[in-house]
Amino acid sequence: MNFEFTEEQLAVKQAAREFAQTELLPGVIDRDTEQKFPVAQIKKMGELGFMGMMVNPKYNGGGMDSVSYVLAMEEISKVDASVSVCMSVNNSLVCWGLEQFGTEEQKEKYLKPLAAGQKIGAFCLSEPEAGSDATHQRTTAEDKGDYYLLNGTKNWITNGKSASIYIVIAQSDLEKRHKGINALIVERGMEGFTVGKKEDKMGIRGSDTHSLMFSDVKVPKANRIGEDGFGFTFAMTTLNGGRIGIASQAMGIAAGAYELALKYSKERKAFGKHLSEHQAIQFKLADMATKIDAARLLILQAATLKDRGKPFVKEAAMAKLFASQIAQEVTTEAVQIHGGYGYVKEYHVERLMRDAKITQIYEGTSEIQRMVISRELLR
Ligand code: CAA
Repeated sequence: MNFEFTEEQLAVKQAAREFAQTELLPGVIDRDTEQKFPVAQIKKMGELGFMGMMVNPKYNGGGMDSVSYVLAMEEISKVDASVSVCMSVNNSLVCWGLEQFGTEEQKEKYLKPLAAGQKIGAFCLSEPEAGSDATHQRTTAEDKGDYYLLNGTKNWITNGKSASIYIVIAQSDLEKRHKGINALIVERGMEGFTVGKKEDKMGIRGSDTHSLMFSDVKVPKANRIGEDGFGFTFAMTTLNGGRIGIASQAMGIAAGAYELALKYSKERKAFGKHLSEHQAIQFKLADMATKIDAARLLILQAATLKDRGKPFVKEAAMAKLFASQIAQEVTTEAVQIHGGYGYVKEYHVERLMRDAKITQIYEGTSEIQRMVISRELLR
């Protein structure tokens, strides 16, 4: 596989880097401390085309490939993973799913503002009693003729409060198990839909994670994505691509921590010489850089296969499994290299270490990735 980037891909990476360094870096510590959603920053990202990167320009998207998306996700995640999770969910789970499986009417009404970054989307699968075990949806969407009556609760929803367009996965026919599940587009403001508690999280604290409650919400049939019973396949297919985004986030968090550790090691002196002149630190840096490169190559493999229309399910799960694992290791080492400074907020690496953990949990835990990979290997 050729991983030589085109000029266009490199320009996207550069634009994302400049945006992250100039617009996201100032204020990132405060947003983390105060759990403040990056409203202005996301708005600007929408204007710059980062919220619907892969969407066809006729629906307001950037018309870019998955490789460009990976490069942009890496640069944004190096600085602010709270911003990149919002970006990832909007791009991979909401826009991509709508473009692939939505009707023309749904694309006009919902995809266009989402791809332009005028509105933010949320993907609502997890429930209090159905996280990894996603086939057991307790939220119900009862078929009432020309609408569905939606009832239930969703948990840990990224963009829970900032979104205005929600894709909600719900059970319509229990007997049919996962083949009786539907994906419905729910708008903020629909009667009976309320945003619940905000989670006080360990990491990605600038992103808003909420529970959502649906009580007799009437969702028009026209808002169902795909045929009746397509909802679970929709969710799984969308998550396959989403894992490329979260793998990129994990790798970006690791790369951000590595860049900071490398810089610090050249500035800080101990025992009469720079840290970077001590072999113990050099070896740490070598391991960190090797892990990040290995993760990046796995991600680019999955993204390239996706761009070529080839199967990429196993490769995306492998990329997410590995990138989220090395993100733990690399960020921990970055804190170690910084010593006492690494443990305080001002030096950023402690935040990156906290942010890294979620990448082993959302869009499928590491255990789920192993299930997906082994199923692909054994079938
Ligand atoms: N791609 C496409 N289809 C898939 C699939 C995949 N990766 N994995 C399973 N399926 C299909 C199966 O083929 C099967 O369909 P058929 O019956 O038509 O053949 C169907 O799904 C059910 O599969 P199983 O019988 O194997 O179901 P299972 O219960 O044993 O396993 C699972 C399913 C893979 C564990 C699934 O429940 C899963 O992926 N869970 C994790 C859910 C998840 O990632 N949640 C994250 C929430 S979203 C989020 O985090 C967003 C955010 O905020 C950042």
